[in-house]
Amino acid sequence: MNLPKHIAIIMDGNGRWATEKGLSRSEGHLAGAKTVELVIKECLHYNIPHLSLYAFSTENWNRPKEEVNYLFELFCEFVAKELSLMQEESIRFSMVGDKSKLPESTLEALENAIQQTQHGNKLELTLALNYSGTQELLYASRQSAIKLLTNPQNLQEIQNIAQNTSALAQYFTTLFSEENYTEELFRSSLYLPNLPDPDLIIRTSGELRLSNFYLIQAAYSEFYFTQTYWPDFSEQDFAQALQAYSQRKRRFGKIEK
Ligand code: IPE
Ligand code: IPE
Ligand code: MG
Repeated sequence: MNLPKHIAIIMDGNGRWATEKGLSRSEGHLAGAKTVELVIKECLHYNIPHLSLYAFSTENWNRPKEEVNYLFELFCEFVAKELSLMQEESIRFSMVGDKSKLPESTLEALENAIQQTQHGNKLELTLALNYSGTQELLYASRQSAIKLLTNPQNLQEIQNIAQNTSALAQYFTTLFSEENYTEELFRSSLYLPNLPDPDLIIRTSGELRLSNFYLIQAAYSEFYFTQTYWPDFSEQDFAQALQAYSQRKRRFGKIEK
């Protein structure tokens, strides 16, 4: 079976799962954390080398404070609890998103797990926390511009022609041309430049959208949508997603031979 190398999951439906059971939304998130354990085990089982999990979007700050606080407690607990499993199973933990606005305790727990698992070589597990695809694209474009402008050779040239505004304008036009401001430079400025693009993006709970996840990385991803709420997502659902993926014809714009 043709398996994806990178699976990214938009874990959705915890709230509705809980509400339908007469439980609190927090209980839904707690149940969702169990499914995270399950999909990690499934990725190890199928030897899938990269798994990304969308856990908190920048838009999720607009939820009630109580729910947000609970989620951050859960992330910390989860990472601390799973650390030994990650080490035993040679998992490399990483995170993607804007770290600068994360609560200090969360950042500490994450940085600790990243550091303790840095030599893991079986599965790279990336948690998308305080993540926005739009913000990542803006970040990458700012970083790309900074790299060009602060390159020592370019800085020297700027200094040489600093008094000549028309030469300066011409120089910047060339500096930011397609030849210099390249896709390669842009991609090297993304949050995790070494992470391959996801082959398969799964979203649970019946919603058919990206919700600001991996915008550029999803350019050629295959999508798998299921009605199942995240806490109910099972080994069988995972196997079905892999089965569906294995039957897709990925043409990347070419025609079939
Ligand atoms: C996904 O479940 C978890 C997060 C976004 C943190 P939701 O909390 O969005 O569940 P629904 O969509 O309200 O059911
Ligand atoms: C997307 O789920 C974000 C995560 C799963 C973390 P949401 O539940 O926040 O998405 P929308 O608001 O329905 O688009
Ligand atoms: Mg939702």
